[in-house]
Amino acid sequence: MSPILSVRDLKVHFPVSGGIFHRQVGSVRAVDGVSFDIAPGETLGLVGESGCGKSTLGKAIVRLNDANEGSIHFKDRDITRLGRGAMRPLRKELQMIFQDPVESLNARHSVREIIEEPLLIHGMSSSGQRRKRVDELLEKVGLQSAAADRYPFEFSGGQRQRIGIARAIALNPKLIVCDEAVSALDVSVQSQVLNLLLELQSDLKLSYLFIAHNLAVVKHISDRVAVMYLGKIVEMADADAIYHRPKHAYTKALLSAIPEPDPTLEKKRILLEGDVPSPIDPPKGSAFGHRISHPRYEETIGADLSLREIEPRHWVAADPCCLEAADWERISKMVA
Ligand SMILES: Nc1ncnc2c1ncn2[C@@H]1O[C@H](COP(=O)(O)OP(=O)(O)OP(=O)(O)O)[C@@H](O)[C@H]1O
Ligand SMILES: [Mg+2]
Repeated sequence: MSPILSVRDLKVHFPVSGGIFHRQVGSVRAVDGVSFDIAPGETLGLVGESGCGKSTLGKAIVRLNDANEGSIHFKDRDITRLGRGAMRPLRKELQMIFQDPVESLNARHSVREIIEEPLLIHGMSSSGQRRKRVDELLEKVGLQSAAADRYPFEFSGGQRQRIGIARAIALNPKLIVCDEAVSALDVSVQSQVLNLLLELQSDLKLSYLFIAHNLAVVKHISDRVAVMYLGKIVEMADADAIYHRPKHAYTKALLSAIPEPDPTLEKKRILLEGDVPSPIDPPKGSAFGHRISHPRYEETIGADLSLREIEPRHWVAADPCCLEAADWERISKMVA
């Protein structure tokens, strides 16, 4: 089956200007050569620390950010450079949900107005039909139809997220980019919303790109997980392999940060010191090797650190600073 979404060598750079003439003096390499596919009905989790480029990547996919290089194919169609007009029919099928989707909307609008707006924009002119559809959507996301006449501020964070989800699924999308959709919620509310997303997925045959900075959040919802560091994917595999057989040092560090529910089991925490380096002037070699001052860092300058399939469906950066010796040995044979 062909993928619903194919991203190839995608780069999104933002200009940085400076000096008295405000000339461009550099660029923020927010997304710097990313490739992956999402299959119909699949959830790809995307994790990484703050600033590594997750939201920029998500926005590029729904065409809220322009790509500088590379390509995005949605349902076999190249959408990389489609303008607003040409994107409009595809908007229905390609949606994005944010951390607080309702907050970004007009607070003076009732829940009904918020949910019916996309229906109106996409030509559902009969108010009776819209009313019926809004009631149906509210029920689908677990809210009572009386909620329609209330206002977003009257709802809790979890309920607001349900309103945002109702709006996002109003036009029967195929792919939803969920950007930190549950990150601000309490753990118990988080799992309720995750369960709702899972139910909707099987009902509506949805695919998700599910963004979070924490590996714990995406664990139960992802079929596969991609780990991003400073604008690049450094490891990508089936969720089970990421959680139980991680290969990349950065993935291991992120995993070690997840609290262990059983306190009798001791877990070695790998402390990640410092921040992600600046994407304006990224290290010339392995970005993570640079951060941990790895003795092999010099070797990685100018080397091809792109992803290799170390095991079936398990991709990891060919980076001697970030792999165990045996894994690096296998990978370096593939490189040669
Ligand atoms: N419009 C913009 N103009 C300039 N720089 C930007 C812009 N948007 C994002 N950036 C920069 O791009 C980098 C990646 O940002 P992005 O928001 O994609 O990260 P993120 O992984 O989503 O982080 P977080 O977990 O905090 O949401 C950051 O250095 C950010 O400052
Ligand atoms: Mg973000």
